[in-house]
Amino acid sequence: MVTDTDIRRQTRDIIAQLKGRRAMLIPAMQAVQQKLGYLPLEAMEEIGEAAGVSANVIYGVATFYAQFRTKPVGRTRIAVCRGNACNVRGSERILDAIERALNLKVGETTPDREYSLETVACIGACATAPAMKMNEETIGKLSTKTVEDLFPKKAKQEGKPEK
Ligand code: FES
Repeated sequence: MVTDTDIRRQTRDIIAQLKGRRAMLIPAMQAVQQKLGYLPLEAMEEIGEAAGVSANVIYGVATFYAQFRTKPVGRTRIAVCRGNACNVRGSERILDAIERALNLKVGETTPDREYSLETVACIGACATAPAMKMNEETIGKLSTKTVEDLFPKKAKQEGKPEK
């Protein structure tokens, strides 16, 4: 289990080059998120201290830019494409099927932190629409059957997702 102290130590290691340089703020936040998976409060406090700004400023930046996450994400990040080509070919149906299979809504993470669900704009796989990404893998030509095949056990599990 990662403690608050671990988070602070890891964050300090990552942002060691930041000291007093505001221009390094975004790259530092990106580097910390890449390491920790999201930006915990403790990490935002450490980044703010190193950058000479309050944690509130860091939180404001983190919530302004879609690339940053202030909550933990699952080991498997599912991003269902909602671009035009995918919408026309039924991405809404796919999203519904995934939500039911994982008992999860967009923006949530399963309690076991296995899956996070989000939507994205075009992922460059329009020819295979509807498509989604699971971490770095692009999966196209989706159907509700594909969803059942991908998440067979999860569909039977119960539990309330984390928000
Ligand atoms: S619109 Fe979904 S991949 Fe392009």
